[in-house]
Amino acid sequence: MRRKSSAVNLFLLPLLHLISEVDSHEMTDQPTKQKLWGGRFTGKTDPLMHEFNLSLRYDRRMYAQDIRGSIAYAKALALRGILSQAEERKIVDGLTAVRKEWENGQFQIEPDDEDIHTANERRLSELIGSLGGKLHTGRSRNDQVATDMRLWLLDEVKEIEASLKALITVMVERADKEQDILMPGYTHLQRGQPIRWSHFLLSHAFSFQNDLQRLRQLIPRISVLPLGSGALAGNPFAVDREFLRRELGFESIAENSMWGVGDRDFIVEFMMWASLTMTHLSRIAEDLIIYSTAEFSFVTLSDAYSTGSSIMPQKKNPDSLELLRGKSGRIFGNLAGFIMTLKGLPSTYNKDLQEDKEPLFDTVDNISSCLRIAEGVIATLDAHKEKMEAALTMDILATDLADYLVRKGIPFRETHHISGRAVALAESRKCQLNDLTLEDYKTLNDKFSEDVHGVFDFEASVEKRNAIGGPSREMIARQINVLRKALAN
Ligand SMILES: *[C@@H]1O[C@H](CO)[C@@H](O)[C@H](O)[C@H]1NC(C)=O
Ligand SMILES: *[C@@H]1O[C@H](CO)[C@@H](O)[C@H](O)[C@H]1NC(C)=O
Repeated sequence: MRRKSSAVNLFLLPLLHLISEVDSHEMTDQPTKQKLWGGRFTGKTDPLMHEFNLSLRYDRRMYAQDIRGSIAYAKALALRGILSQAEERKIVDGLTAVRKEWENGQFQIEPDDEDIHTANERRLSELIGSLGGKLHTGRSRNDQVATDMRLWLLDEVKEIEASLKALITVMVERADKEQDILMPGYTHLQRGQPIRWSHFLLSHAFSFQNDLQRLRQLIPRISVLPLGSGALAGNPFAVDREFLRRELGFESIAENSMWGVGDRDFIVEFMMWASLTMTHLSRIAEDLIIYSTAEFSFVTLSDAYSTGSSIMPQKKNPDSLELLRGKSGRIFGNLAGFIMTLKGLPSTYNKDLQEDKEPLFDTVDNISSCLRIAEGVIATLDAHKEKMEAALTMDILATDLADYLVRKGIPFRETHHISGRAVALAESRKCQLNDLTLEDYKTLNDKFSEDVHGVFDFEASVEKRNAIGGPSREMIARQINVLRKALAN
């Protein structure tokens, strides 16, 4: 099969290789059958399989959480008399020494270290002798890895929460400082009604505030202790799981050991959270990309977050924003991929679950960068008041014109129509709504009077929108207040 490999089955080779290797494991008891597959299968692990099986390359980043879990577990074993106090001390000191080696970059990885758990335990036994082998009493890598993952993610969530808060803070501070800037608000990317630039910024900040709330709500479901679930059927040495919970700072305990070792919903949920948050980053990125075009020129990104073109010297590309938009696809891909891995898995632990780590690590790393980049972009961009205000054309006050007649007692359905006719009249004269004379307006409806020209004031229009949620100064201040409170929580 291997010798005759064509270009096409070269792609299949690794797969075939694995299938044959799985069989060879089963065949180790029946040596005669091996010949069918060639003598090279000796029952030893294929080197590629060995490599395929390894996770240390990426799970080593959980070394600190793995050691924290082991120290707590050693203490729990001592409480049950499975370790003497002297043994406990020796194990805890040994584990502390192993952690120092990782911290100082001195930890020597051996070829047989499959994952972070075996690597740490192997090193522990080298340091303290065969006593190291007592640590795993009643524990399985199944409850150990689930514990490590949860501890690790809890640590990361704290960092991510801080980055998200920093992003919201920058948006709130800008919104507070730049309230004087008016701009058109868009629907369907068509000019709709005047708003404040602050109102635009805050509209995105509220999405991020929701993300902050959702992130915090994930914590109780991540903060569940699996340790003490054993391989699947619980711990036979009556370890005190309440002690472990307190020692490791979990909020609650996995009440069912099979669920404890098999559940990865906390990872799915985190990646769902990340996908939605990335969607929000992508949407503000898209707005700002449009606003940074020469056609709009509402904003200019700082040089720190833009790049030039390799061929067109005049260009300044919003690469930072495009990457934020692009990475949303990657993060969602991580979620979609892992959900497919979970779907159809039988109960409890299966090796497939090793596939939780790379997408999770990738998601954490990339969303952390994205949040920090977004904060930097928004903190440093220039907002161009003149350009935004130059885009305020009188036609976007057509709703205000209709509202003017509503205040004179005419039903909105009619005033909408009358205002539309005023827009059409101005268009036919190639002038703006405020260039039409009072006489022109009177021909449309006799309720128009001298004060109609008061309608054509953008600042006044924005200030009239003073119900909760509006862009008036008072309501901007209210929004800022709400967000500051959410940040302080
Ligand atoms: C694969 O790794 C697991 C631990 O995750 C280990 O128990 C098993 O022996 C390894 N198998 C091979 C074939 O290396
Ligand atoms: C995205 O994740 C990968 C894998 O963890 C990492 O190598 C890369 O540096 C991350 N990118 C960013 C921008 O954080």
